[in-house]
Amino acid sequence: MLTVSMMLLLEKLFQLSYDANSAMLLVENVFQLTLMLTVSMMLLVENVFQLTLMLTVSLMLLAVKLFPLTCEFLEGEKTFYFRAQKFYEDVPATEEGMMGDFIEVSHADLEGSRKFLSKFMNYLPRRSWIMTWLWIQGPGNAGSSFALDCGSGIGRVSRSVLLPVFQKVDLVDMVERFLLTAHQDFLDQDQVDRVETLFCYNLQDFIPTRDKYDVVWIQWVACHLTDKDLMNFLRRCKKSLRPDGVIILKDNMARQGAKLDVSDSSVSRHLDIMRVIIAAAGLQILAVEHQDGFPDIIMPVWMIAMR
Ligand SMILES: C[S@@+](CC[C@H](N)C(=O)[O-])C[C@H]1O[C@@H](n2cnc3c(N)ncnc32)[C@H](O)[C@@H]1O
Repeated sequence: MLTVSMMLLLEKLFQLSYDANSAMLLVENVFQLTLMLTVSMMLLVENVFQLTLMLTVSLMLLAVKLFPLTCEFLEGEKTFYFRAQKFYEDVPATEEGMMGDFIEVSHADLEGSRKFLSKFMNYLPRRSWIMTWLWIQGPGNAGSSFALDCGSGIGRVSRSVLLPVFQKVDLVDMVERFLLTAHQDFLDQDQVDRVETLFCYNLQDFIPTRDKYDVVWIQWVACHLTDKDLMNFLRRCKKSLRPDGVIILKDNMARQGAKLDVSDSSVSRHLDIMRVIIAAAGLQILAVEHQDGFPDIIMPVWMIAMR
């Protein structure tokens, strides 16, 4: 359009010099010329606007490109979940089974988790004036009544991180055998008494009760959910938090992009991808910390606290 109007404009200029001897034609041509100039300017402005719009849309597409990445990777969610189900059928209901080939890092993992969790806890009576006055509180102020252990397995995290701190804990895992082991073997009797419910559910379908938990712990299981399911699960977890509650996610994070492991059907995401998913779930990140003390051959493990 712009080219056409420029051509018409040139034609008018040519006509103007040709017909200069006629006053009437001159007025008419000046009018037409002004009109053409105005139209050209309008088209120019429109084109600049369209160009800006196209640039903005392209930049936006580039920015959200991260998000569908892992879904594209997975080639069908059903196969992805089915493979994980098959994998855990053969996993022994032991601490070794929960840790894969890396039982030797379990101690460092639990120690790192306890330290990270303590930053978000308020062990003193809630909102006491003396605490506020003395500024004893850390960044977190979560209560210690109830925690949810997601993808709990046999309760390795519940036993050493959650039950020493919380009065009650719920466990959720897709494998019934693991939950039964937690109940019958792995947890102490005092701990079993404080486990309120063992939920045998897939996290992608599980809806935690609203306003129930001070802490929702999600360890080494976010990798078994697709981006979309993880985002939706985090949204539901957010609704399940009590005032000052926090969600803590701990998982392997790829050094770059997203890495699918077909053997156990898990996907490790770069920390930046995880941040995008967390933001899309409407959560705010409170702290991010690297788990130290693991050998270099292990994929980096990060802890993220959010609410
Ligand atoms: C590597 S183990 C980690 C167990 C525990 N979080 C720990 O750190 O010891 C992963 C656990 O997630 C569970 N899991 C995997 N995919 C799941 C899903 N879609 N829904 C619920 N649980 C799942 C497995 O059954 C297994 O118990």
